[in-house]
Amino acid sequence: KILILDFGSQVTQLIARRVREAHVYCEIHPCDVSDDFVRDFGANGIILSGSHASVYEEETDRAPQAVFELGVPVLGICYGMQTMAQQLGGKVEAGTKREFGFAEVRAHGHSALFNAIQDRTNSEGHGLLEVWMSHGDKVTELPPGFKVIASNDTTPIAAMADEERKFYAVQFHPEVTHTRQGQAMLNRFVLDICQTRADWIMGDYISEAVERIRQQVGDEEVILGLSGGVDSSVAAALIHRAIGDQLTCVFVDHGLLRLNEGKMVMEMFAGQLHARVIHVDATAQFMGQLAGVSDPEAKRKIIGRAFVEVFKAEAAKLKAGTGGHKGATFLAQGTIYPDVIESGGAKSKKAVTIKSHHNVGGLPEQLGLKLLEPLRDLFKDEVRQLGVALGLPPDMVYRHPFPGPGLGVRILGEVKQEFADLLRQADAIFIEELRSTIDDVSGKSWYDLTSQAFTVFLPVKSVGVMGDGRTYDYVVSLRAVITSDFMTAHWAELPYSLLGRVSNRIINEVRGINRVVYDISGKPPATIEWE
Ligand code: XMP
Repeated sequence: KILILDFGSQVTQLIARRVREAHVYCEIHPCDVSDDFVRDFGANGIILSGSHASVYEEETDRAPQAVFELGVPVLGICYGMQTMAQQLGGKVEAGTKREFGFAEVRAHGHSALFNAIQDRTNSEGHGLLEVWMSHGDKVTELPPGFKVIASNDTTPIAAMADEERKFYAVQFHPEVTHTRQGQAMLNRFVLDICQTRADWIMGDYISEAVERIRQQVGDEEVILGLSGGVDSSVAAALIHRAIGDQLTCVFVDHGLLRLNEGKMVMEMFAGQLHARVIHVDATAQFMGQLAGVSDPEAKRKIIGRAFVEVFKAEAAKLKAGTGGHKGATFLAQGTIYPDVIESGGAKSKKAVTIKSHHNVGGLPEQLGLKLLEPLRDLFKDEVRQLGVALGLPPDMVYRHPFPGPGLGVRILGEVKQEFADLLRQADAIFIEELRSTIDDVSGKSWYDLTSQAFTVFLPVKSVGVMGDGRTYDYVVSLRAVITSDFMTAHWAELPYSLLGRVSNRIINEVRGINRVVYDISGKPPATIEWE
């Protein structure tokens, strides 16, 4: 993301617009934010805006010094250039001639900012750029380490760069459309120089959605069931952005999550987002109810029912209100557009199952709560983009789907704590290897090349030999599929070397497993999950 520090120019908003048009997330903050703010922001790059002021008026704004100490690229525009020059040891003087309006500057050498960006070339082959100027002062002496990258007669230092530190500055305004290559320059800065990903297309959506949520909720309070899945996480991040502490998330950990998942969810929401999150460790309750049950449908029903029970109990407490909180009146859900379509039209059998875990069907009525569903008009890929734009880690947002009943349907037959622990370790190894193994042809990781991959625990023992000893331990099966709609699927042709590495690591690292097999069944006739 890009941090734009505003020195009070009329056109700072335009800088943000242009950055967003490059599909990169940015925020505008006043130029007098603290050094700590700048450090904590986590910017990939910083843009210093223009201003009406003159850098050598008595009291003028300077950029927080941290801007130049973070090691991230910085782009100064107009006043931003002048303050950069002055703060880094150059010189700025009042121009004798005020330059206002169109101007043509000549690009020098090969700066990363302008390379191959030009309106035309002059007779000597130099690139010429038509730009919009609006300044009186100008930089007259470069700070150490800088060189001139564009000039004209009135403004000999029309742009400057310290390519090594990735500091760039332009006296003209690339953000206004009169600078014909302005968008190209800003794209160059934010995408290539700052190395951000052009994945922010949800910009306007966020501000509109935030406004809608504020309108709908007013000063009331909201509860949301956080599952660790993409939809509820994105809904939580969005609602939190809109109403902050009026949102309380309830994270029910049924003990059937992937390795470190509970910790990750808590760190992300309580730690990073500073959201109110109630972590309910209901492992004992779930394990207790699952003891002795081995029928897959019975297991699913128990898990679904227990989930609703635990969530309802927490929601009832929150509805009643607790210290300083007056009581929730809304239940938020991460319902997305395909869920809306499915529940309106013909439901597939699976869709019903998926919904009952995902969206805790029927709960709002039972609890007497109003419903808040801010993702109702988004498709999955849009929810993911929204998640990234809201600052959730891309790895989390682009994770493979994970079923509501969790490892409960990946431990065949009776679910036991011991089995869940073994499965978690084995699965983490499989996923780690899929993520770190890159396919030569596509350049993508095998995690990204597969639609869903996981490990299944088989409660059967087989004989093995380790060192000089005999082992008699459990078997796991690896499952990896490629599918577009999860209704049909092909097993993934993972490289043997990858399978070999995963097998070795699981057998060596997970005590209790001595055999790894690979599931080569398609759907149909098999299903993706084993239960
Ligand atoms: P199957 O096993 O039916 O799975 O081929 C198709 C997809 O659905 C997921 N799945 C579930 N997701 N709650 C969910 O939220 C469930 O009860 C459930 N059962 C299966 C499965 O992981 C696969 O992506």
